[in-house]
Amino acid sequence: MKNTWRYFHQYAWFILWLGVVAMIGFVQHHVLKATKQQQPVFKACQPTTNVMFLKTHKTASSTILNILFRFSEKHNLTAALPNGNGFHLGYPQLFRATFVEEFKSIGRNFNVMCNHLRFNAQEVRRVMPNDTFYFSILRDPATWLESSYVYYKDVTPAFRNSKNVNDFLASPWSYYNLTEKNWNIYAKNQMWFDLGYDNNAVYDEYYVQSVIQDVEQNFHLMLIADYFDESMILLKDTLCWDLDDVVYFKLNARSQSTVQTMSPESKEKTKEWCTLDWELYKHFNNTFWIKIQERMDLKTLYKEVERLQKRQKELMEMCLSEETAVEGNKVKDKRLKPFQSGTAKILGYNLKPDLVNETLTSCKKMIVPELQYMAYMYSRQFPDKNKKPIDFK
Ligand SMILES: *[C@@H]1O[C@H](CO)[C@@H](O)[C@H](O)[C@H]1NC(C)=O
Ligand SMILES: *[C@@H]1O[C@H](CO)[C@@H](O)[C@H](O)[C@H]1NC(C)=O
Ligand SMILES: *[C@@H]1O[C@H](CO)[C@@H](O)[C@H](O)[C@H]1NC(C)=O
Ligand SMILES: *[C@@H]1O[C@H](CO)[C@@H](O)[C@H](O)[C@H]1NC(C)=O
Ligand SMILES: *[C@@H]1O[C@H](CO)[C@@H](O)[C@H](O)[C@H]1NC(C)=O
Repeated sequence: MKNTWRYFHQYAWFILWLGVVAMIGFVQHHVLKATKQQQPVFKACQPTTNVMFLKTHKTASSTILNILFRFSEKHNLTAALPNGNGFHLGYPQLFRATFVEEFKSIGRNFNVMCNHLRFNAQEVRRVMPNDTFYFSILRDPATWLESSYVYYKDVTPAFRNSKNVNDFLASPWSYYNLTEKNWNIYAKNQMWFDLGYDNNAVYDEYYVQSVIQDVEQNFHLMLIADYFDESMILLKDTLCWDLDDVVYFKLNARSQSTVQTMSPESKEKTKEWCTLDWELYKHFNNTFWIKIQERMDLKTLYKEVERLQKRQKELMEMCLSEETAVEGNKVKDKRLKPFQSGTAKILGYNLKPDLVNETLTSCKKMIVPELQYMAYMYSRQFPDKNKKPIDFK
């Protein structure tokens, strides 16, 4: 009996030892496995937080502005906003650092710059830190011209007296007067102008190539509006941002009823009329696709695009009562109505009426038009300047 007990005792220690060994193995195996599974969550890169976006006109850039303001709030960043009551950073004058609110006191400690301005590298560098990521967006000049025509018809002498965009392009020089060029920037090579160059310069291969080289030096990335979702994936990947950082609802877009149909001849004619922008666009469309292929194969790209669109749809279903954009006059909350211009019917959104708390706030931020969002950013950064911004709660 005594012996049996002793044997049992030794046996029990053995069992216990076996158990401990097995447990260590089990724990190690599972912890390692869990770490491995989590690896995609722990990014090898740090998100870029100093960004300068040159907001070009009629290129889906309002949607990007919204993305950048949301990102600024998420990371508590400081944006270089227009001083006083300005809507943009001195446009169409060449940019100067003093156009930025509180440049004197904040100096070179801004993180984000994304309001309309005419690019001037030296002065922008006085505001933005030296590790800033510079990017912009370009669009096919033909569809760009049609959009600009409808949106800026009233303020552009060259557009005002023509019947429609096809009529204008049939004989542009009979409408476009070089002595009124300050008001005609919306009619000819405006992307070239926004980048800081002369939109009325005569085409010359050497000149065009030198400008393109200059742009290549000043900007790390040029997105292409005609491939907007692909652009968002490339941007997110390049800046090490999350998918949700670049999920968007299209802002400042027009109702299809105000889009004019361009004849094939008009489209061809734009390449000649806006030849500087056409050269710019061709070059950067090319480098855009090269940059994508340096980072991922096309299969990965389209998988990512699909993920983006799925998330966008999910958020639209969660946030919007119509689950799509509506005409400006159908926006029920007047404070969320987008600015209207020319004959363009700019679309807006209605939120679901029962949204509360964080969901309400994050949904509202995705749909708020740019002027309203800018006023909010302003009051967030300069609370004592007494502006009454939109309420996100
Ligand atoms: C945001 O930044 C401001 C000033 O840069 C700082 O006072 C504040 O504590 C920051 N807030 C968060 C949540 O990081
Ligand atoms: C960039 O700025 C930081 C701090 O402002 C400075 O330490 C650094 O030397 C600068 N780098 C370059 C390349 O100028
Ligand atoms: C161009 O504008 C100037 C100044 O408004 C005017 O004097 C001139 O007649 C215009 N030229 C044409 C061709 O319309
Ligand atoms: C832009 O690049 C794409 C992909 O290479 C190409 O299919 C398209 O024709 C290009 N567009 C222009 C205007 O060059
Ligand atoms: C919203 O916030 C209030 C106050 O913090 C809380 O009582 C309520 O439960 C929240 N509602 C939801 C749906 O999360």
